[in-house]
Formats: sequence, C-alpha cells, structure tokens
Amino acid sequence: MSGKGKSAIWGGRFQSGPADVMEAINASIDFDRRLYAQDIAGSRAHCAMLMDKGIISPKDGNAILAGLGQIHAEIEGGTFRFKRALEDIHMNVEARLSRLVGPAAGRLHTGRSRNDQVATDLRMWVREALDSLDLRLARLQAALIDHAERHVATVMPGFTHSQAAQPVTLGHHLLAYVEMFGRDRGRVADCRRRANECPLGAVALAGTAFPIDRRATASALGFDRPSANSIDAVSDRDFVLEFLSVGAILAVHLSRLAEEIVLWCADGFRFVRLSDAFSTGSSIMPQKRNPDAAELVRAKAGRIIGALTGLLVVLKALPLAYGKDLQEDKEPAFDAADSLALSLDAMSGMVEDAAFDAEAMRAAAAKGYATATDLADWLVRNLNMPFRKAHEATGRLVRRAERRGCALDELSLAEMRTIVPGIDDGVFAVLSVENSVKSRTSFGGTAPANVRRAVQAARKRFLGT
Ligand code: ARG
Repeated sequence: MSGKGKSAIWGGRFQSGPADVMEAINASIDFDRRLYAQDIAGSRAHCAMLMDKGIISPKDGNAILAGLGQIHAEIEGGTFRFKRALEDIHMNVEARLSRLVGPAAGRLHTGRSRNDQVATDLRMWVREALDSLDLRLARLQAALIDHAERHVATVMPGFTHSQAAQPVTLGHHLLAYVEMFGRDRGRVADCRRRANECPLGAVALAGTAFPIDRRATASALGFDRPSANSIDAVSDRDFVLEFLSVGAILAVHLSRLAEEIVLWCADGFRFVRLSDAFSTGSSIMPQKRNPDAAELVRAKAGRIIGALTGLLVVLKALPLAYGKDLQEDKEPAFDAADSLALSLDAMSGMVEDAAFDAEAMRAAAAKGYATATDLADWLVRNLNMPFRKAHEATGRLVRRAERRGCALDELSLAEMRTIVPGIDDGVFAVLSVENSVKSRTSFGGTAPANVRRAVQAARKRFLGT
C-alpha cells in the first residue's frame, strides 16, 4: 500500500516512491503510449535545436538522436517495455534513453518540461486525427455522389414532419448529406489551422533562460508558428475541445444518415437494401436482415458528444497554467477519434454497397398527395388565384380524394370542377410526381436537370475531380 520500499523516481526531494493507488491514479502510460511517435518526433526536434544553439554538444546530441531512433524502432517492433512506475510516455522514453546512451540522455530535458512536451505531442496527434477524418469524409462524399449521379431522376417522397411532403429526387436527397459532410470538412480545416501552433519551448509555464529557438522546433514539427504565450501554451486544450466539437457535429450528421438508413430498411419503406456484408441476421428469426452497423453509427454519437461534454467539464474553472486535470484530455480524444474513424468507415462501406429501390420510392411518392402543392401552384398560374385561396381550394380537393380513397389524379375533371369551377384538364400534367420534380428548377431545387449539374459541381468542390 504505502510507497516505502519503492524507489523514488523524482530524485533528491523524495525519500519513498508513490503508494500503489497513487501510481494507479497518476499513471497515464496505459493510454498515452499512443503518443509515442509524436513524443519521439518532438524530442528529436528539441535535441536538434539544442545542438544548433550550442546548448548541448554535438556528441551528446547525436547520441540522443541515435537512442531516440532505436526507441522508436523498439516500440514499433513491440519489444519496448512500458512501465507504469514511469508514469507516462515522456518518462518511459527518457528512462529508456538513459539506459541506452547513459548520462548524456539527461541533457535532453534542458529547456523543456513535460508540460510543453505533452501539449506539443497532443497537438500533433490531433492534427493527424483531423487529416484522417478529412480523408474518410471525402470517401463518404464520393460514395454519396456516385449514388446521386445514378439517381438524378429517381423520384422519392420528400418528408417534413416525417410525412410525405413533396416529391424529390433521391440524388437531391443524397447530395444534402454531401453538403453536410462538406461543412464538416470545412470545420476540420478550420480546427487544424487554429491548432497548428507549437507549445514546445513554453517549458513548465514561464519559458526558459536557455537561448532556445522556438521557431526552429515549430517549423521542424510542421507547425505554422510557436504559440505566443507560454502560460497559454501549456494550459490550452481548446484544440482538443474544437476537435471534439467538430467530431460531435459530424457524429450527429452521421447519426441522421444512419437513422434514415434504418428507416429506409424498415417495413413500410424498403427504399434501400444493404449488402450482406453490411447486414446481420437474427439468431432466431431466419428472415431478418438487420442494419446493425447503421444502428451502431447512430448510437456512437452518444459517446462522442459525451467526450466533448466530459472535457468541457474538466476544463471549466481550471486555473492557469498546468494542472494534472489536463491529463484527462487524452482518453476522450482517443475514444472519439476511434469511434469517428470506425463510424465513417462503416458508413462509407454501407453506402458504397447499398442498393436503392427506385420502384418502392416512386410508389411511396405517388401516395400521400405529395403533389398537392403543384396543384395549388397550377391554380395560381392558370386561374390567377392568390396562393392562399389556391391552398384552401387544393385542401378541399385533397379531402375529396381522401374520402374517395383515391389519388388526386384519379378524381374526374367533373368532380374537381364542383370545387374549382375554372379547372381544366391541363391540371393533370402537374399531378404526376415526375412532372412535379421536373418543375423544381429554382437554384438548389430538386429537378433532375439541377441535380445533374449539382453532381458535377459537388465533384469539383469536394473531390477536386
Ligand atoms: N502525463 C501528463 C499529462 O498527460 C504529462 C504532463 C505532466 N506534467 C506534470 N507537471 N506533472 O498531462
């Protein structure tokens, strides 16, 4: 229980090591080992800069660089032994370095602290996570655009309040998601731009008296500039919050698409069929084809939003500059990144393989009086009715059709005339769902001609092709 008998890792000030439970709550190596590549890259850049500035000798510096290279290889090769007693990735690497190169290793931490080190590592990691989100989002957009192109003229019911509202084209509906994911990519790029400042050299919080070159380390690590304020540099986790916010909004978008897939696979819809590769069976009901992946993507939004909420609460009212609280930033970031990558890949696979049922969609569009607005518009254009009056008259026609149990275009002209005397058989042209969508040519509208152009535009804007 007590730390007596354990060796102290903190040097002269300490006589005993930590209690077991202290080690358990304090250590982050079980999760921050994931930062090893960033940590070693940061150490290499720092070491090279210390040599250039004459702060450490070339002999020591080169020994350190060689040792770091070996440690990288050991970790990649699975032979590195991570030790909890050494707390975190930074101390694990440093301890191994001293075994490999002796006392020279002790010079690496000159003008550096774990506070700026971890902030730098995590920024690099978030940067990579953002880049991988962008690639995955582009794949999903490409899959959606391909289907949209095949279905520029496929008619389906467009919904408001989950009720058939007006006929739309499937291509148009799918391109709505392409826009959403396009905004996600915009947020990814924006987040990356702001995150790309280098904390290294802020040291514990106050900077250092050593003549370090922060611009050199920042640029060696691919950052746009060193962060301007050393206190902010070690205490700021906005870049993680922004990453999680971007991720939470993206997860919400994915959950909306996932929900539509679940719905469209359901009885009463059957608008889409998922491939065997993206369906699951039931252990008892042999007929079932369940959209489990879509349901899981729908659910993952919960943990991603949870990660954002969790970290917001960790940071709330946290005083400057560094507190160990900040160690709690990593697990939510890692978990959200993993969940997002998995969700995006599963969604892309599902969408790429999906087969849409144009027949079922058209039949659903023809039900439910979805062309009632077209009828009202016809009355405005041909009988010069004010729209409100046309709306009212159309409502009465719909009520009549409903009572008869028929579609609007199944009412006879004579019967329509009992409600709207001036109506003529030109009206039947607008009552078909095909003509309805064809007529929606306003900018951003659902007409097949528009969607055809929108597909080309989307390819250019989002895929650069
Ligand atoms: N493992 C720590 C973290 O993740 C590294 C920084 C530790 N700094 C300190 N002053 N104890 O935040």
